[in-house]
Amino acid sequence: MAIKTGRADGTAQITLDTEKCNDCGICAEVCKGAPLIMIDGRLEIEEPRFFGCIGCGHCMCVCPQECIQINGRDMQPADVIPLPGTDKRADYQQLYDLMLSRRSVRNFRDRLVEPEIIDKITAAVATAPMGLPPSDVEILVFDTPAKVQEFAADLIAVMKKSRWLFSPLFSVLMRPFLGREYIESVNSFIRPALDIFIEEIAKGHDYLLYNAPLAMYFHCSPYADPADPLVAATYAMLAAESLGLGSCMIGTPAYFIKYSKDLKQKYNLPRKNQPGIVVIFGYPRIRFRKALRRRLAKVTYR
Ligand SMILES: Cc1cc2nc3c(=O)[nH]c(=O)nc-3n(C[C@H](O)[C@H](O)[C@H](O)COP(=O)(O)O)c2cc1C
Repeated sequence: MAIKTGRADGTAQITLDTEKCNDCGICAEVCKGAPLIMIDGRLEIEEPRFFGCIGCGHCMCVCPQECIQINGRDMQPADVIPLPGTDKRADYQQLYDLMLSRRSVRNFRDRLVEPEIIDKITAAVATAPMGLPPSDVEILVFDTPAKVQEFAADLIAVMKKSRWLFSPLFSVLMRPFLGREYIESVNSFIRPALDIFIEEIAKGHDYLLYNAPLAMYFHCSPYADPADPLVAATYAMLAAESLGLGSCMIGTPAYFIKYSKDLKQKYNLPRKNQPGIVVIFGYPRIRFRKALRRRLAKVTYR
C-alpha cells in the first residue's frame, strides 16, 4: 500500500535495466519500502510489497551498476548527483567545533542577509532527513527587518487576544485537566513571557523576534512527522553558523499560529499544517569570546 503524504499519493516507479543488473542484491538490502527483493539469487521488483517504492532514492545511490531508476514521489534519476569526496567533508572535530561555537544570537547588526546566503541555508535544509519522503517541510521566509517586525507585531497581537487562556484564574480552573507541569510552565514562563512581549512591543522593543533581519517559520503538512520542521530548523541553524550568521530558535509563535485563522490567512499557511518553529537569523552584533560546556539531563545505557 502506498503511503499518502502531503505531496505524494501512490508509489514511485522503479525501472531496472536488466541487461546491466548483475543481481548483486545491494539495492534489495537497503530497500525498506520494500519492493526490491532477492528471490533465488535474482533481483525482483514486487511493486505492492509492504509500502511499495516510497522514493527514498537509496537504491539508485548504492547500485554499482547504475541500473536502477526511480521516478515519482518527487524523485527522479537526475536527482542522483556525485557524492562529495571524503576530503571535502567536515570531520568530527570540524563539525563539533562548529557546534560548540554556535550560540543563540539575539543581537544583530543592521545588515540584510543576502539572498544568496538565504538560498544556501534553504539548500542545506533540503538535505535534512524527513519522516517520509518527499519532505513535507515548508519554510515561510521573512527576509527584511520590516517583514520580521510585521510578523512579530501580528504574533503579539494574537498573543494579546489569547492572554486570558494563561490568566491565574484560568490556570486554577484548568489545573485538573492540563496537569501540574503545564500549569507550572504557564506560571513560571508562558504568562510572564507574554506580559514581556506585549508590554515591550508597546514601547518599541521586540522581545519576541529581537528585530532580526531574517526569520523563517518551519512548518509541515498534517501527514508529516511533527519532528520534521524541527529537524529542518536545526539544519538551518548549523548552516547559518557555517556562513557566519547567528541564529536563534523561537518556540512560542508556533503555539499561537496553530490556533489563529487570521495569521494562517494573512501568511498563506495551509489551514491544517502542523506548527513547527521559527528561527531568526542575522549577522551577530556581539562576538562570543568563549564557548560553554553543557550537559544533557541524562544519558543512560541498558
Ligand atoms: C525549541 C527551542 C525553542 C526556543 N525558543 C526560544 C524563544 O522563544 N526565545 C528565545 O529567546 N530563545 C529561544 N530558544 C533559544 C534557547 O533559549 C537557547 O537555545 C538556550 O538558552 C541555550 O543557549 P544556546 O543556544 O546559546 O546554547 C529556543 C531554543 C529551542 C531549542
